[in-house]
Amino acid sequence: MTEWWEVLRAHFPLLDRRAYFFAGAQAPLADDVRAVLEAFVDLWENKVWRMEETEWQAFDEVQRVLSSILECEASRIIPAEGTSHALNLATAMVLAAWRRDGQKRANVVIHHEAHPASSFPWLNATRSGATLEIRWSEPDPGEDLTRSLIEAIDEQTLAVVVTHVSHTSGSRVDVAGLARRFPDRPWSLMLDAAQSAGALRIAEEVALCDFVAFPSYKWLFGPPGVGFLVASTDWIDRVGPPLVGWASVRDPLRMDAKNLDLAPSALRLLALGSLSKPGPRASRNASLISRIG
Ligand SMILES: Cc1ncc(COP(=O)(O)O)c(C=O)c1O
Repeated sequence: MTEWWEVLRAHFPLLDRRAYFFAGAQAPLADDVRAVLEAFVDLWENKVWRMEETEWQAFDEVQRVLSSILECEASRIIPAEGTSHALNLATAMVLAAWRRDGQKRANVVIHHEAHPASSFPWLNATRSGATLEIRWSEPDPGEDLTRSLIEAIDEQTLAVVVTHVSHTSGSRVDVAGLARRFPDRPWSLMLDAAQSAGALRIAEEVALCDFVAFPSYKWLFGPPGVGFLVASTDWIDRVGPPLVGWASVRDPLRMDAKNLDLAPSALRLLALGSLSKPGPRASRNASLISRIG
């Protein structure tokens, strides 16, 4: 019987020639991903006029594939350039709500092993004048990581920022346990799932967190420059996009510069303009491969 990892391995021609120790940086190129990139170059060379026509279709498809892998509504999945971009969008949404609610005294609890992709947007917010206390969790040696986060949370907490699987130690935070402990939390739970999306089943985390961010190029085996933010419907409806561009509106081709008639779909809420075209196509195929594991 062929094992699942043999099926997965057969997608990567490089592995016939080399041993590649993929430790969560750039994934090797899969044959299905190469095929879709080549098809895109072919489309560009021979039918350039069709590129624009099929632009949104590619995003719709990757949204649909990811929604079945993550077991969430497709409308919650927002395209971004990567984890850092996605978490900047999420931070901007939380800050917009905080400002709108009167900028009350607040703190942001950050996991002691947070990747800079999730801590820097908050450090930058304080640099730009947001009066927030940045509170790093400080577990004692051997202490449960979730407990040390819980201990740092209080009634003034605005957000809890967690890296699901650490890029340095490989340790994993029990994010679902943390969320369940606070069923009526007033703070937002923000998850960097760069080292878990595609490698672990993260449907429960996606269901419980306010924001989950991850790139295509790691355990989803996709290209660099594409990532996703899965936001809770409440954030999309209540706060909306922190950034807008010509493609953010209901009918982008009207080019009505005087009216911001926002698109109802989350997909286009954060799609600023002409985005990567090969990226989402390749991510769709790549995501399908990652499901084999
Ligand atoms: C845990 C974690 N978060 C974020 C990133 C960076 O992601 P991106 O390049 O998509 O911003 C990495 C990259 O190694 C990572 O390991």
